[in-house]
Amino acid sequence: MKTIRKHRRRALCILLTLICYGSADARAAESLVDTGHLIALENCSRCHAIGRSAESPLAEAPPFRRLRDRYPIDDLSEALAEGIVVGHKEMPPFAFEPPQIEALLAYLKSLGSRSDKVR
Ligand code: HEC
Repeated sequence: MKTIRKHRRRALCILLTLICYGSADARAAESLVDTGHLIALENCSRCHAIGRSAESPLAEAPPFRRLRDRYPIDDLSEALAEGIVVGHKEMPPFAFEPPQIEALLAYLKSLGSRSDKVR
């Protein structure tokens, strides 16, 4: 009797674990753009406007949706890898890993194309 109950509990544990891992997978599968949005939110949003509207909290920091007007977004990838310092007196240097850069650029590009339509 006791052992059966134990088994059941273990089965429940395994089931719960599978459910949790399953949702972790789903999260990992979220699009690059969403990941990039989170990175921007955590690292950049206190100075830059990172969305499709609103002005930057720090007036001198260009809203991300306008970066594309200045240069091709892909040109940023090197700067991000080395740590952006250019033009960022007030900004702490960042050094991102390639997957994060890819996500951030995907997000910036998604902004650009949308604001293109708005204009
Ligand atoms: C502490 C404030 C601050 C944070 C945080 C910040 N920035 Fe900036 N950023 C600035 C300012 C100020 C400028 C404008 C500098 C200038 O034009 O001289 C700027 C400019 C830029 C530019 C344009 C540079 C150019 O030459 O036109 C890019 C690209 C940029 N930031 C990317 C980012 C990214 C990506 C993040 C997050 C990973 C970030 N910034 C976080 C303050 C910040």
